[in-house]
Amino acid sequence: MSLSALRISDFRNIEQQNLQVDQSVNFICGDNGSGKTSLLEAIYYLSHGRSFNTSNHSKVIRFDQDHFVLSADVCNGVGLQRDELTVGLRRFRNNDVDIRIDGVSEKRVSQLAKVLPVQLITPDSFKIFFGGPKERRQFFDFGLFHVKQSFHDDWLRFSKIHKHRNALLKKKPSSYNDEFDYWDGEFCRLAEIITAHRLEYLNLFNSRFEKINLSIESFLTQSDVTFELNGGYNSDIDLHKQLKQAFGKDVKFGYTSVGPHKSDVKIKTAHRLVEDVFSRGQMKLLLYVIKLLQSDIISEVDLAPVMLIDDISSEVDETNLQKIFQFLQSSKETQFFISSINRDIAGFLVDENKTHAMFHVKHGTIKQHIGT
Ligand SMILES: Nc1ncnc2c1ncn2[C@@H]1O[C@H](COP(=O)(O)OP(=O)(O)O)[C@@H](O)[C@H]1O
Ligand SMILES: [Mg+2]
Repeated sequence: MSLSALRISDFRNIEQQNLQVDQSVNFICGDNGSGKTSLLEAIYYLSHGRSFNTSNHSKVIRFDQDHFVLSADVCNGVGLQRDELTVGLRRFRNNDVDIRIDGVSEKRVSQLAKVLPVQLITPDSFKIFFGGPKERRQFFDFGLFHVKQSFHDDWLRFSKIHKHRNALLKKKPSSYNDEFDYWDGEFCRLAEIITAHRLEYLNLFNSRFEKINLSIESFLTQSDVTFELNGGYNSDIDLHKQLKQAFGKDVKFGYTSVGPHKSDVKIKTAHRLVEDVFSRGQMKLLLYVIKLLQSDIISEVDLAPVMLIDDISSEVDETNLQKIFQFLQSSKETQFFISSINRDIAGFLVDENKTHAMFHVKHGTIKQHIGT
């Protein structure tokens, strides 16, 4: 899917802009503080109903204004199958929000991401991604939700039981009783199903990753990157037994310490965690590959998310930028919005057949640069 037009008013330092954007690659260049991140933030907001920079909605409304308005024309499909609709969002200082999808008022913010899925990579993304299990778990589960329809229902069933179990723990029972035994039976049954889904998805991810590494020579220098599931419990020991063993501790803390809600994806090179081996530049490169690969996998079964890349050139050298662009251009379906302070960024595009648009931002005013 892609955006064809974007309208922004009173969002951050952007007063009023109507943009016709490219289906493939859009570069956003400008000095520090010109409004590049604000433009990407506007697109992200229209998809998620919130900012990636702040949870305070009124901070993104332009100073001294009462509300902001964002809207976009979105197209799904191509040729005769082409389906166009308009998505709009207006947010007021008192927190009121109006959402319109195809002219119809919509109450659920979650519906926005269904028609306009958007993924983001910022210079901070790699710290968060390699910093702890939560982000990785959510990221790979997001891919799994798209690829395997039944995962969503299994996950909801498991979450209900997990929540119920935690509520029972908070009552501080003195010993492991029949009630726990019953619920843990169901907990373990669903845990196994979830782990099986995750293993299947990581198998797919590993094989696709291997292909990319082969297709782009010496892409990561270290070529043997693997994605391994840690299911959140010891897979060699019966989970029911592990729940019983952890019971005393779990009662004390009031939550369940083992299970698929604690899972992680360990990313390794030569049996070591990449975060212990790779340089920051290599980690950045790896994160681009991981995010773009998942976007490609999703696009085979669902709408391809729009990819926002903020400050692409920060901390990445020219050779690695070239590699990122080489990979970026191999994903046919994905529409990109890429910001950079480097005005020559388009020079890294290697495929001359790939169309692109160049926008220059200055004091919140965005002008399309013709002739690139
Ligand atoms: N609510 C707001 N109203 C008006 N201007 C704002 C608001 N929030 C931030 N700004 C200004 O917007 C400018 C652009 O910021 P940003 O988009 O992050 O720049 P860039 O990414 O190009 O470096 C900053 O100078 C900032 O002071
Ligand atoms: Mg910025």
